[in-house]
Amino acid sequence: MSEPSERRSRALTLTPADIHASSLSRYRDIVDDWDAFAEALCRPLDPLIWANPSRIGVEALRELLDEQGLDPRPVPGLPEALRLAPGVRPGQHWWYCAGLAHAQELVSQLPVRLMDLRPGQRVLDLCAAPGGKTAQIAFALDNRGTLIANDLSTARLKALQGNLDRLGVVNVSTTCSDGANWPAAGGQFDRILADVPCSSEGTLRRNAALLGRLDPDNSARLAPRQHALLRQALRRCRPGGRVLYSTCTFAPEENELIVAEILAEFGDLVRLVPVHLPEIRSAPGITQWQGRRLPQVLEGCVRLWPHQNDSGGFFMALLEKDASAPAEPPPEPEALSSEDVETWIEGLEARYGLGQYIRAHYRVHRRARRGLHLVAADHEPPRAPRAEASGLFFHRTNVRPPKPTTGGALLLGQAASGYRIELDAEQRDRYLRRESFEPSPEQRASTPLGQLFACHRGQVLGMAVLHRSGVLESLFPSRWSGCTAGGGEAYSSPSPLKEPDFLNHQHMTAK
Ligand SMILES: C[S@@+](CC[C@H](N)C(=O)[O-])C[C@H]1O[C@@H](n2cnc3c(N)ncnc32)[C@H](O)[C@@H]1O
Repeated sequence: MSEPSERRSRALTLTPADIHASSLSRYRDIVDDWDAFAEALCRPLDPLIWANPSRIGVEALRELLDEQGLDPRPVPGLPEALRLAPGVRPGQHWWYCAGLAHAQELVSQLPVRLMDLRPGQRVLDLCAAPGGKTAQIAFALDNRGTLIANDLSTARLKALQGNLDRLGVVNVSTTCSDGANWPAAGGQFDRILADVPCSSEGTLRRNAALLGRLDPDNSARLAPRQHALLRQALRRCRPGGRVLYSTCTFAPEENELIVAEILAEFGDLVRLVPVHLPEIRSAPGITQWQGRRLPQVLEGCVRLWPHQNDSGGFFMALLEKDASAPAEPPPEPEALSSEDVETWIEGLEARYGLGQYIRAHYRVHRRARRGLHLVAADHEPPRAPRAEASGLFFHRTNVRPPKPTTGGALLLGQAASGYRIELDAEQRDRYLRRESFEPSPEQRASTPLGQLFACHRGQVLGMAVLHRSGVLESLFPSRWSGCTAGGGEAYSSPSPLKEPDFLNHQHMTAK
């Protein structure tokens, strides 16, 4: 790697020479084109997003972003995804705040596509935060049924919840527990994603500083935990069900070697299902490493090298549990308290005409004094580990007057019978910066006083209050208020605001 001072002045841009001199050179013999690999790792990644199927179709999103000069381009093999112009920061655009899209790297979008998900399946995301894949799974299940999103980190689960709330996901219960000990009382699952913590070598294009910290010893340290997580995933999988194991690292010690050990341990009870990724370039799992011969069957794993699809690096293995494995009885779901919810729903009916809509589409429950959650009608939270939350926190009832949360507004605002205010582009940016301002006399004349859904181009952004004085107060949450760019320009605010929390967490994470 370059000298420290030069490295600082170049804001950590890497050169192929840095890659050659790093511990990544131990992969020389397993990469098909070493020079292309080293060169790809030195280029920053273009941002990718997917359209939120519950809010907008990918074509309509493409038109919206095109209009704003963001140069959205289709991504072969990923029909819901769009690649944006280099340097665009999706999280700083109003359409992102409105939950129309989610930013996720190309390779990170792939595991969920391999899980063969269908509504009605019971699914566990064992290492879920910050939740990009959880959200994909939730929509593949049609935002119904039971998806459990588990993570060991409370802080990262908070970021996950922020993402799910923004996107309007209602079929998830979150649990905070060591996935390697996920309890048998939590039941078995049709599908489990084990997107395990790893040395993250494949994320170098997003975080060049990582190069200085790469060390094969990291893989040796992580391998036992990865093994334990995959083992527990297979134990919690129902007979005939499937587990998708993935990492964003190149290290065979965290990839094929883990899968080989697990296959040996489970014997006939588990088989590797070869995967096929139409229109995506990939390489088979390796069967030779450091002079050691590995089982041929590992070719059924898949490696994604950064130069193949202009992406990060990734590894996946799809495992199926034999139908003859012993089945466990279905778990007892945790009861959700619907005590004291009707009064509040009647209040929402009286002002926004939302009562019938809520009753027809969701179950409402109260978890704590602060307010109410909406959850898919057929969702069953686990009894163990106890859920941190189930569904979307949509109505705050411990304030006067009670008010829908921003997540609640994004989910329900389109169905409201009135009490909306349409903002122009400048007003929209002021609203997202949490500024108070006076709407035009025409807007005021046609808008009732009190709480309102603030909208732009017909899409709900969150809640606002129109005061008697004529001032519109933004209730957009401070922790989301990095979403401020106007007219499609990334970050046009004169005094840069920090990115919303859920995005900071997303950038922090390996995937
Ligand atoms: C690679 S990240 C997961 C990314 C996530 N699947 C996504 O798509 O947003 C790995 C996650 O595993 C969590 N983790 C680490 N050890 C864990 C354990 N023993 N049990 C459960 N989660 C764990 C970390 O907190 C981290 O959020």
